[in-house]
Amino acid sequence: MEPFFGKVLKKYREKKRLTQKSLASKLGIDVQDVKWWEESGVSPDKSILREICQVLDVSLDQMMIRAGYLPEKFAEVWMNDPAKISKFLQEQMPNDTENESVQCVSKELKPILKTDLGSLYKADCLELLSKLESHSIDCIFADPPFNLGKDYGKTVNDNLKEEEYLKWSFNWIDEAVRVLKPGGSFFLYNIPKWNIHLASHLAKYLNFRHWITVELKFSLPIPGRLYPANYSLLYFVKGRKPNVFNPPRLPIQTCRHCGGELKDYGGYKNCMNPKGVNLTDVWSDIPPVRHRRYKNRGANELSLKMLDRVLDIATEEKNLVLDPFGGSGTTYVACELRSRRWIGCEIGDCQPIIDRIQEKSTDRELLENARSRINILFTPESLTLRSKFGHKNGSYQIEDNDNGDHKKSKRTVQRGLPFGLKEN
Ligand SMILES: C[S@@+](CC[C@H](N)C(=O)[O-])C[C@H]1O[C@@H](n2cnc3c(N)ncnc32)[C@H](O)[C@@H]1O
Repeated sequence: MEPFFGKVLKKYREKKRLTQKSLASKLGIDVQDVKWWEESGVSPDKSILREICQVLDVSLDQMMIRAGYLPEKFAEVWMNDPAKISKFLQEQMPNDTENESVQCVSKELKPILKTDLGSLYKADCLELLSKLESHSIDCIFADPPFNLGKDYGKTVNDNLKEEEYLKWSFNWIDEAVRVLKPGGSFFLYNIPKWNIHLASHLAKYLNFRHWITVELKFSLPIPGRLYPANYSLLYFVKGRKPNVFNPPRLPIQTCRHCGGELKDYGGYKNCMNPKGVNLTDVWSDIPPVRHRRYKNRGANELSLKMLDRVLDIATEEKNLVLDPFGGSGTTYVACELRSRRWIGCEIGDCQPIIDRIQEKSTDRELLENARSRINILFTPESLTLRSKFGHKNGSYQIEDNDNGDHKKSKRTVQRGLPFGLKEN
């Protein structure tokens, strides 16, 4: 059960026949605060909570337990005798909930598209997930709807109550966790508003690796808020360590006019890894998909570069990747082009995915371009600019350069150097 304070507060308030306004007036606070607690589910601090409990005639413990929190003082009892507690809880359950989790097993699912590497189903993700064997997937990438009221067609309601959206999210996440192999990786892309809840849910079952910030200036400014440019990519693994961890290295950031370094690598130039700088958990180089030539449908679509990076980090050829929210099929195309097996579903129109998988030339070109810019210290363009504007490369070690003027440094590299520097 997830903590959800707002629903419980509303229940107790209504039981006492109080309106939000009358409760606020009894507490001497603004009615907007009561509204916000009930809608957001965030609980007020303990001192106000105590006052609320007094007005509503309920003990603080009862209120907390009902909202899904375990009061600290019960923690030891809870941990010491779980069998007794679970027996007690089981006895309280109505009989007919026993088979709740056994859903849609009778109806067979048939793929709407099958390739040598993957299968696409026109289906609800919960339906597909329920058919998958436990511990069968090497990597999961999920980019669900963000509940921002977008139009994904008749089959999707992208304007759920917060509580419903979280409940739905926890449901599909639990199933996804079940099908992930030990050592498998789980990437979940969403806005921070949801990922703070989804991360804490995932952390109950999986091992947190990173909260990756993807900087994307994509939407319109919101009045009274900071401009939202922070999308969040959660990265968890099942078990102690990932089966695959192979992050790409990125080139040094250079001025697009003259090729000069944007950051000062100072005295460490000779220690830079010739394959580029370390990938960090802030990704500022992922472009939004805006141009009509590269857009495969009207609604949200992620950059192929992002999926390519995820595949690099957490998969090897022939690994099986699951994406339960197909959209325009970016994950599936990335898998096709990178020789990963894949499985996925889309509840809405699947035609854009089918068209895209059948005609991959534009995606191939995009991917080749993106991949020619990883695991090198300078891009070919910046090397050309640097030579034109007289920037010297002599103190860097540059692999496979085609400009004769960059000589390789033979100096040994020290351990424990800062970000971007070679480790051995
Ligand atoms: C944000 S988009 C995914 C975009 C995708 N990553 C891409 O790059 O094209 C989310 C997609 O999930 C689909 N969807 C929503 N609810 C679903 C469900 N219950 N099962 C399967 N797909 C669902 C929507 O129709 C939408 O196409």
